[in-house]
Amino acid sequence: MPSAFNYHVPRELLQKYAKPGPRYTSYPTAPVWSDDFSPEQTKILYQQNNAQADASQRPLALYVHLPFCTSLCWYCGCNVKISRQHKVTEPYLKALATELELVSPFIDPGRKVTQMHWGGGTPTYLSPDQIEALTSLIKSQIQFSPTAELSIEVDPRVTTAEHLEALRRSGFNRISMGVQDFNPDVQQAIHRIQPFEKTAELIQLSRKLGFKSINIDLMYGLPHQTVSSFADTLAQVHSLNPDRLALFHYAHVPWLKPAQKLIDQKAVPDSETKLAIFELAISDFVNQGYRYIGMDHFARPDDELSLAQDQHSLRRNFMGYTTQAGTDLYGFGMSSISEIDGHFIQNAREVPDYEDRLSQGKLPTLRGMWLRSEDHLRKAIIEELICNGYLDFKALSDRFKVDFSSHFSDELAESALLAEDELLMINSHSLQVLPRGQILIRNICMIWDAYLRTQQAAQGLFSRTA
Ligand SMILES: C[S@@+](CC[C@H](N)C(=O)[O-])C[C@H]1O[C@@H](n2cnc3c(N)ncnc32)[C@H](O)[C@@H]1O
Ligand code: SF4
Repeated sequence: MPSAFNYHVPRELLQKYAKPGPRYTSYPTAPVWSDDFSPEQTKILYQQNNAQADASQRPLALYVHLPFCTSLCWYCGCNVKISRQHKVTEPYLKALATELELVSPFIDPGRKVTQMHWGGGTPTYLSPDQIEALTSLIKSQIQFSPTAELSIEVDPRVTTAEHLEALRRSGFNRISMGVQDFNPDVQQAIHRIQPFEKTAELIQLSRKLGFKSINIDLMYGLPHQTVSSFADTLAQVHSLNPDRLALFHYAHVPWLKPAQKLIDQKAVPDSETKLAIFELAISDFVNQGYRYIGMDHFARPDDELSLAQDQHSLRRNFMGYTTQAGTDLYGFGMSSISEIDGHFIQNAREVPDYEDRLSQGKLPTLRGMWLRSEDHLRKAIIEELICNGYLDFKALSDRFKVDFSSHFSDELAESALLAEDELLMINSHSLQVLPRGQILIRNICMIWDAYLRTQQAAQGLFSRTA
């Protein structure tokens, strides 16, 4: 197992590899998708997906996007809608109900949901009664497996004991809490005041109520963060003993999220300090017994994510890392993404547009992409790199009916250059990502991205890789 030391990336290498790049939550990445993808095409995709001989046996994943928050955190890069008027939820929930009514008849009645995630925004902006009503509505139209994983993102500042109880009654068993940083100066500078005690109380109660996995989100690169202040935050986090941790590098994209201009750039740590904070966090997590799964995520070695990674069977979809392979993802709500038979569909990205389309009885498809066979192949490669850090050339040749070495001679030659910097190891039959390559995984994936060269001409699409 790698020690914290293996993750060290020398400064000059970081400088060499730091450039804008996708995070590969999908391949092909969203900017490549077509705006001409129509609701009719979405229906064809639903039909084809449920017409296959084994359709009733195919597991299903659902994502529900609940965009509302009471106040804006200035760093926020999510698809949110800020409102103190809780009645905004009423038309939105009505639109969600219409979407469910339009989509569920396409789903083979034998299919069962094995995974559902509610993200946001802040899903606990809904009242406990609304949470129970929405879950019942979904379960009345689509069957759930009794062992389904139901997870939710919550903001501890607005989540009450009643919310947690309603979530447990509705079958939620995994919870993820946004923290970012416990330091009061940092909290002030990001417009997010969140006392440690409130978070600790909710975590204790979640455990008592039987949530089987608790995740905490942290962020580095925020104003006033120092190595010493973040060490204090980490000590507080460990006292809460989360099962999983996410540590995000603050993505500063003010051209996409204008509210980020409120972040005082003079107070943001310089790149040396950011790197020192990141290295501190990695060594701290490893010392505390977590494993770096990749792409900002850490889990215990006996967590199912770690075990799946050991067996090279870890997968990733829009909801994050998962152990469930071959599951179609149906997304509901504004901006949500569906991934069906590997193809992508995205819903309208603004609440009024989403609600309007549904009030006219139309599917809210905004854009999408049908993947060609070359896309499926490259998508599989990028997923293997991010999840399992390993490519087996023969397995990929057999699965996709290509001669891997000749088909990807340019990519293999380019990968060999990264091997010189010890980001990976490569031989005639496999490619293995090394710990420092895990840190620069976006750079490794970029080699296999067939669209990147054209995209690179368009400035400002992606945040920096390091
Ligand atoms: C939808 S929010 C979490 C739930 C809830 N709204 C909250 O804030 O507690 C998901 C996570 O995305 C991360 N995030 C948001 N904006 C980000 C940004 N600009 N860069 C990196 N991570 C970001 C934060 O860590 C946040 O906890
Ligand atoms: S970080 Fe969470 S609570 Fe803050 S604005 Fe974004 S989604 Fe809302």
